[in-house]
Amino acid sequence: MLKVLKHPLLTHKLTLLRRRETTTKDFRETLEEISGLMAYEITRDLPLREITIETPLEKCKTYELAMDVVLVPVLRAGLGMVDGISNLIPTARVGHIGMYRDHVTLKPMTYYSKFPDNLANAIVMVLDPMLATGGSSTAALQVVKDHGAKTIKLVCVVGAPEGVDRIMKDHPDVQIYLAEIDEKLNDHGYIVPGLGDAGDRIFGTK
Ligand code: PRP
Ligand code: URA
Repeated sequence: MLKVLKHPLLTHKLTLLRRRETTTKDFRETLEEISGLMAYEITRDLPLREITIETPLEKCKTYELAMDVVLVPVLRAGLGMVDGISNLIPTARVGHIGMYRDHVTLKPMTYYSKFPDNLANAIVMVLDPMLATGGSSTAALQVVKDHGAKTIKLVCVVGAPEGVDRIMKDHPDVQIYLAEIDEKLNDHGYIVPGLGDAGDRIFGTK
């Protein structure tokens, strides 16, 4: 399942991310804001359980979240999405996958992974702003599955059609969320028009 989250605020903030002249500070802050806006939609189907509490006036039946949420940013760029989402889900635990794309082969190289316990009973949200060839995301999804995750969402900001097709083929059970689908990949595997190298723009590296 693919959901592209159309919203005027998302579109406006994405324009800011795309602009060449956007500074590192503004890029980082805007990515956090976009992630926060996306959080509302990606949590829409979280399961609730009924509980009874006491208000100052009387007992009442109400609801609370029934499942843990685990956020899994794909380093480095996925780190830029964690705060925006965890602001809304402060109880979320966080795992990490370290992965970079080899510049020549475009194949993902995994260098780190660490997860909280019991991924099997959590809703696992894999975070990476860029879904280009899909190589990194499909590998990251396999890593969380190998650690027991069963209910998984992939949350990216900009996707290329090639990456979306790859994830739908490799992981048909995973819900994909995007703020926008761009036109295509260029010869170097960059999304166009895209926003450039997300990791470099978040951290001010080159
Ligand atoms: C970027 C991005 C994704 C990946 C997308 O990471 O954050 O992880 O590329 O490309 P793909 O869909 O073709 O795999 P990068 O390899 O630049 O690492 P970085 O975040 O450490 O800069
Ligand atoms: N990784 C990025 O950061 N940007 C792209 O356009 C493709 C891969």
